[in-house]
Amino acid sequence: MTAPVSELPVVEFAELSSRWNRQPCVVRGLEELGALDVYDIYSRIGAAFRAGIHRRPDDVKLFTAPPAPSGLGGCLPDPAERDFAAYAARVSRELGKDWSFVLNSAQAVSPELYRQARDVLTRLRETENGLPAGVADCFIVAGSYATGPTQIHKDTADVFLYVAEGVKTMLLWPYDALSAHVPQDADPLHDYVALRVDPSAVDVAPLRLSGRPGEVLYWPSSYWHCAESDGRPSLSLHLAAHRNRDMAPVWAGAFARAGVGAAAHRWEISERAVGGAELAFGREAAEAATSAVHQWSLGRHSTANFEILPELGPRTAPDRAARRAVALQRAPISWAVDAGRPADVIVAANGRSFRVPARQQVLALLGALAGLEAGAALDLEPWSAPSGPVGDAAGVLEAVYAAGAVDLL
Ligand SMILES: [Fe+2]
Repeated sequence: MTAPVSELPVVEFAELSSRWNRQPCVVRGLEELGALDVYDIYSRIGAAFRAGIHRRPDDVKLFTAPPAPSGLGGCLPDPAERDFAAYAARVSRELGKDWSFVLNSAQAVSPELYRQARDVLTRLRETENGLPAGVADCFIVAGSYATGPTQIHKDTADVFLYVAEGVKTMLLWPYDALSAHVPQDADPLHDYVALRVDPSAVDVAPLRLSGRPGEVLYWPSSYWHCAESDGRPSLSLHLAAHRNRDMAPVWAGAFARAGVGAAAHRWEISERAVGGAELAFGREAAEAATSAVHQWSLGRHSTANFEILPELGPRTAPDRAARRAVALQRAPISWAVDAGRPADVIVAANGRSFRVPARQQVLALLGALAGLEAGAALDLEPWSAPSGPVGDAAGVLEAVYAAGAVDLL
């Protein structure tokens, strides 16, 4: 058999920003993803699903020709099945047809996966185009197709695909190449849209993006795509960065938390009221809501947009006489002066947020913590008495430790 050839450029991750949200490519420089045991993560999801303790069972989906089997759990890896090829062969035998699992929120069962994926996104956030507004999510795709590609579709996310087992080939088309096939009532910018057209019936040749185990493929959200199979089982890990976010519910929640907006009539304000002091919720409540949205936003920033997180907190009490804080992840915290209450600073670590008074000494600690690389240590002497860290600094360190962002040694 001829080795698959990538027809698209190979780009170093450090140079990806020029293609981010623009063009598909093979990505080099994310070799650390190779340290992840994707099949082990898949097995952990299978074990949680079978035991009925999966936090989001709807995230486990099996695609197969109808009828789908009734016992989904039986088609997921058994803890005794330590080998992906043997597992895939067993499922193919049992189902006797093409099958494909898609498991969303994979990072929920693996702190290692969450931290690695967060690191990829955090590095992208520092580039010119930054991160998109939507949520980030990791999902695993496992399956075996005897024939043909899957349906052509478009997601709302930019996707990195790490090949763990087998060969993955994606056929890709720029948005405009197939836009004539979009159903009239569809909204491809904000929704997943599948086309009712077979790849062989499309008159525009696709770009072919192919990867073998250890390789990473990337395509932007604007590209139509489908998978092409060589007939053998494959296993891949996907990191999706969704493009859009509807902020209306966030603002509504913030106003509700500020004590306004729960009663519908308060939103029915006149134009004149909006311009002046008559505004029903008043300046104080508006500031409180702004502050709440700011806090939400920093919490999100601290997770690089992941909303579904694994258990990250420590299992032991912090060392109160600690001399060093060691980062468990790149940029362990996010922080900013509170837009609604400028005397306070909002601090967030792995989605947990809190406020501290904006004093010089604590600001210096926050700046130092936010700049740490994974594994780097910060000497805590400037914030310590002989007994260990003191004052607001001690509170910050304990909260950041509790969020699983640093170790205190
Ligand atoms: Fe897709």
